[in-house]
Amino acid sequence: MGWASCCKRSDGAEPGRKKKKKDTAWRVFSLKELQLATNNFNYDNKLGEGGFGSVYWGQLWDGSQIAVKRLKSWSNKAETEFAVEVKILAQVRHKSLLSLRGYCSEGQERLIVYDYMPNLSIHSQLHGQHAAECNLGWERRMKIAIDSAEGIAYLHHYATPHIIHRDVKASNVLLDSNFQARVADFGFAKLIPDGATHVTTKVKGTLGYLAPEYAMLGKASESCDVFSFGIMLLELASGKKPVEKLNPTTKRTIAEWALPLARDKKFKEIADPKLNGNFIEDELKRMVLVGLACSQNKPEQRPIMSEVVELLKGESAEKLSNLENDELFKPEQTSSFQGSSGPDSSDCITEEKSSKADAIEAAVDSSETVPSAR
Ligand SMILES: Nc1ncnc2c1ncn2[C@@H]1O[C@H](COP(=O)(O)OP(=O)(O)OP(=O)(O)O)[C@@H](O)[C@H]1O
Ligand SMILES: [Mg+2]
Repeated sequence: MGWASCCKRSDGAEPGRKKKKKDTAWRVFSLKELQLATNNFNYDNKLGEGGFGSVYWGQLWDGSQIAVKRLKSWSNKAETEFAVEVKILAQVRHKSLLSLRGYCSEGQERLIVYDYMPNLSIHSQLHGQHAAECNLGWERRMKIAIDSAEGIAYLHHYATPHIIHRDVKASNVLLDSNFQARVADFGFAKLIPDGATHVTTKVKGTLGYLAPEYAMLGKASESCDVFSFGIMLLELASGKKPVEKLNPTTKRTIAEWALPLARDKKFKEIADPKLNGNFIEDELKRMVLVGLACSQNKPEQRPIMSEVVELLKGESAEKLSNLENDELFKPEQTSSFQGSSGPDSSDCITEEKSSKADAIEAAVDSSETVPSAR
């Protein structure tokens, strides 16, 4: 299996037996070493800021490039507990997951070290600082979709204990020097014990990607990740953002926009204009159909991640045709899918927004960011 790291390393070295030990190795960093690497967490080194703190680019004494996530505050978390949790996450390895390279826990500082991903994220390639370069041609998009689906499927079905990501989105799928997708930040999910179907917890996640049952009830399960992944697939296919503001009072989700087009079989109209028509139509159709199936309101009607992988790869003609003929895509069908946010979508979105802000605040000064439901 590829999970013991079979991808090309971001430093350009080919994988091989000798490298394996280095790939899987991780260690404790001293604060001094990370201060040196990041020029004392210099503003110019800052890659961005997320819910749990800021991320800085850095370079170690051996020349390797790192990204250091400096958690905002960890006051309630004992040093040993932080280390235990981080070590568990460091064991999770798959070619499409961004594993931890190490951590630092000194005084009030809690830092997590990753390999730096030079092509940043799907988000920066589609909507951010790399958008103008149009680096994501169709072949890359399809591979990124399949690889990231495999990474999440690994978390759901093979990692022990199983892991719900809870924050699947375009800025959490990073791209290495070969544009190989690496799903990041699964470390901030709760680890779920075997046999448990869901863990109820404070809502985390990002506006536009949240499954309705998660946004409203705080009920996290694998199918919430499937929902978010579906939104990301639609984003990859269309180049659109998850939520579009039609006017000051009305928002439309990407799924609400894409579904009527898919029902009318107008797949070409969904394709990102930046592709200039350069895409494989069958693959685009698969990406859109799977994206919409994943982002249905009813969790029980969504596929599971292993099925998503299979469908995206187009391995089973029968399953694909079942998907295409699903009620969801019948022109007259209206009840089982009401866009990704349902009839009260604007209320739901407002609630998600405040929930996220609350959750982030709660998370940084409580145990929320470290998986604890084991
Ligand atoms: N290893 C890395 N290499 C390159 N860029 C990274 C790396 N890790 C994070 N980033 C980028 O740094 C920025 C901040 O990341 P961070 O994870 O803190 O926030 P986020 O992904 O936007 O939100 P969230 O907190 O929900 O994950 C993002 O743009 C992210 O893509
Ligand atoms: Mg992130």
